[in-house]
Amino acid sequence: MKKVEIITRPDKLEGLKELLTAHNCHGMTVSTVMGCGTQRGYVAEMNLPELNINLLPKIFVMTVIEDSELDKVLTDIYEALGTGTVGDGKVFVYDVVEVMRIRTGERGEKAL
Ligand SMILES: Nc1ncnc2c1ncn2[C@@H]1O[C@H](COP(=O)(O)OP(=O)(O)OP(=O)(O)O)[C@@H](O)[C@H]1O
Ligand SMILES: [Mg+2]
Repeated sequence: MKKVEIITRPDKLEGLKELLTAHNCHGMTVSTVMGCGTQRGYVAEMNLPELNINLLPKIFVMTVIEDSELDKVLTDIYEALGTGTVGDGKVFVYDVVEVMRIRTGERGEKAL
């Protein structure tokens, strides 16, 4: 199982929800966050003081998926969310050691 964290533009949320649903995603956790990347929250062309950081609103979507879905999910995220401009976002992927559905005590993929 893989934990996938997607940080991207707020206007991409609906498309992302549809995309994940199409990939047999069993659940997701979504929050609004503030963040910056390489440009420290500014457009690339601006020449800013080294320590100046501007945080921009982003959405943070976390989902745990089956290993077999990972490549397809990443490809679809790139195709659906990529605009080729700075600030499109980033995806972080982690191995998940265990999952348990608290209601039943089920473990592993069947608990997703
Ligand atoms: N290394 C990082 N660690 C944690 N969060 C990050 C990291 N890089 C980006 N993020 C998060 O992702 C959001 C979008 O990042 P962004 O797409 O601007 O990344 P980037 O590396 O600057 O790429 P680009 O050059 O395409 O803009 C940031 O606002 C921040 O919330
Ligand atoms: Mg950036």
